Amino acid sequence: MITRRQFISTTSILGTGIISSNGIGGIPIAETSNATRKVLKIAFGSCNRQDLSQKYWLTIAKENPDIWIWLGDSIYADYFTESLRRSAYNSIKNNKYYKTLSEYTSIIGTWDDHDYAFNNTGIDFHDKEGSKSAFLDFIGEPRQSERRSRSGIYTSELFGHENQQIEIILLDLRSFRPEEDSNADLLGASQWAWLESKLSNDQPKVRIIGSSIQFLTDYKKKDAWANFPASRQRMLDLLAGSQVPTIFISGDRHLAEFSRLERNESHPIYDITSSGLTHSSDHSNKNKHRVGNQHFERNFGVLTFNWTNENQIGSVIASVHNPDSGEIISSMSCDF
Ligand SMILES: [Fe+2]
Repeated sequence: MITRRQFISTTSILGTGIISSNGIGGIPIAETSNATRKVLKIAFGSCNRQDLSQKYWLTIAKENPDIWIWLGDSIYADYFTESLRRSAYNSIKNNKYYKTLSEYTSIIGTWDDHDYAFNNTGIDFHDKEGSKSAFLDFIGEPRQSERRSRSGIYTSELFGHENQQIEIILLDLRSFRPEEDSNADLLGASQWAWLESKLSNDQPKVRIIGSSIQFLTDYKKKDAWANFPASRQRMLDLLAGSQVPTIFISGDRHLAEFSRLERNESHPIYDITSSGLTHSSDHSNKNKHRVGNQHFERNFGVLTFNWTNENQIGSVIASVHNPDSGEIISSMSCDF
């Protein structure tokens, strides 16, 4: 049977979150209302305490996203054994509300500190392999996937047909992370080499980079790329060589905010932060790259892609939503 994930990774996506198909793999047959205006909707979120209500998945399912991206802290498993970690993941996976989304939506993701190990943990965590195996089983990573055989859990995937490819890159900011230092390398040599080869491909029409911690903010008192300035600059230099419009999505902060960085000879870069799904914070801070306000309530994020008739990205609408009502808390057009 072809899963929805396999299906949308290799086939065209038409309409507002509706796939036109012949009922392959149990997917409902649906027709797009306007085949010339093609839209792909991605939803994402982070920071999900498994001991709190998971009913909000009904709201996310109603958004009808084609893809759901976990951006870290999908469970809080600080100091858990592998077995406890697996039961926490299974409590989400088997939750009837989560299933309303996962049965019809591609689920992909990466981790942050609380699902990987415990607060602010990095390269020195003693049970990397057990944690990785539990996470990849949770996310439904195929047994033969390259992701299972190399170190870390970074990955990428192309969605949409060849004229409208969206590339999603999911970074692993935990497995290779040393102590914070201005020259410290957040990604590690193998992940950088892999990333450089991905970013040298100009074929995708838009690129989404999933980063569990905030990329653009200049605020340093919380976990962020700003505390790894050499790595942040290396990423910016790499992106300067790519003409593919790029949007970072991030989590971790238990608040929502949008950031934008203008660049002289290339597209602006965006960072859309959405966190948390089950709990939030009122810790406000300055961020010179922020557009609009910080939002201190629970939220999930949505990216809605507007394609031109020439198969180009017209704009991407970024929004954050209340996970109980679905109401938009804030939105912004990412223009390129
Ligand atoms: Fe968190």
